[in-house]
Amino acid sequence: MRVVIFLLFFISASFGDLDFNSKTRNFSVELFYHTLQGSDRDVVISPYIVWSLLISMAYETAGMTWEEVSKVFLLTEDRSEIVEEFMKLRTSVLVNEGAAINLLNFLFYDEHFKVYSDSIRRLEDDFRFITQRLYFEVPQQAAGSAMRTLRSYDVPLRTLIRTEDFVDSTMIMCNYLSFTARWLKPFNVSDTSQDQYRDGNEMGKANMMYMKTRLRSSNFESLHASVTELPYRGDGKYCMLLVRPYSGYDVRHVLESLRGVSLKDVLDTLQQEATELGLREVEVKLPRYATNSRVILNMPLFNMGLSDVFDRNFANFNNFAEDKIYIGEIAHRVTIVITESETIVHTTTPAYGLNTRGPVKRIPVKEPFIFFIIEKSSATVLFGGSYSKIDLF
Ligand SMILES: *[C@@H]1O[C@H](CO)[C@@H](O)[C@H](O)[C@H]1NC(C)=O
Ligand SMILES: *[C@@H]1O[C@H](CO)[C@@H](O)[C@H](O)[C@H]1NC(C)=O
Repeated sequence: MRVVIFLLFFISASFGDLDFNSKTRNFSVELFYHTLQGSDRDVVISPYIVWSLLISMAYETAGMTWEEVSKVFLLTEDRSEIVEEFMKLRTSVLVNEGAAINLLNFLFYDEHFKVYSDSIRRLEDDFRFITQRLYFEVPQQAAGSAMRTLRSYDVPLRTLIRTEDFVDSTMIMCNYLSFTARWLKPFNVSDTSQDQYRDGNEMGKANMMYMKTRLRSSNFESLHASVTELPYRGDGKYCMLLVRPYSGYDVRHVLESLRGVSLKDVLDTLQQEATELGLREVEVKLPRYATNSRVILNMPLFNMGLSDVFDRNFANFNNFAEDKIYIGEIAHRVTIVITESETIVHTTTPAYGLNTRGPVKRIPVKEPFIFFIIEKSSATVLFGGSYSKIDLF
């Protein structure tokens, strides 16, 4: 019976003029924009992951908190409709076609936490959470059990969860996404060369991969940038969009312009031009690099309009639990490796660690860019990142 209702609602057009996927894309670009705004360095995030974690809790809010959340996520009142669309999107985004992609969601909650059993069931059934009830009173033991659970699902543990997390908290949500894909047109290793950077005594270098080949590529005057599509192997399901600012414009400027343009339209334009004029011969330069990006997303999300959910006094998750809860921190980490042959990304929320030595100086790179790793049928942004500065030591 419920299923039938879902389908009926899906057909009726109660989303107004925005379809579900475009709302997700809107959130993705906005989150990336606000995250980069608040950072003095380059960032890589997985908007889809953050979005799906937050959506799973959005419907558990009530009152003013719901008003706020529904505005930021452009949600309608009808929960079943959203769940249906959410599942549909997940089915189209997370497909092992060409790419190896795996997403796991976990929920650990305290034995004493007065949570409605229906809420836990909703997270399990609708949002595929693996849930576990633990004694947070004994943090060491709770952490140990949680880590055993994570390990049994092959989640790399180093940075995901700590014993301290179980102190004074009632619930921990975390997830892990891995993505590995091979370029349809790999770079030739012998064309990789080194860009040297120097400023006084400080030095830095970047290994730049290079190829000249025929690809979908267009200039977007409205963005002051060119966009080139680097497809991954498989049925053209996943690709990287390489957005390169015109000289004189920087990545922040271009990202700002992207807020007014739909990524779906960008993909459509690329495809249309390729159909009409054929593929363009372009030179592609991309650093061969591995980077770690860890960001706390509270502030970017706050700037997007989410404030109640983080507020001890105002957060209203009354649909979820009898006890009052609020979101303490959303820490998010992405590790990305780009080589001549493939792209490998691991994402965890939350994230810890990363006590790497800071650079002496950070200076602009010669050819900055923004990249989006995208599932094309829905134009969903799996990952978005910037490359604009290089560390000198
Ligand atoms: C890579 O470049 C080298 C040197 O130009 C060339 O000999 C080789 O055939 C190229 N390999 C591929 C796979 O194109
Ligand atoms: C997202 O939606 C808001 C409100 O409709 C709009 O102001 C903003 O430009 C949109 N951003 C993107 C990236 O589409």
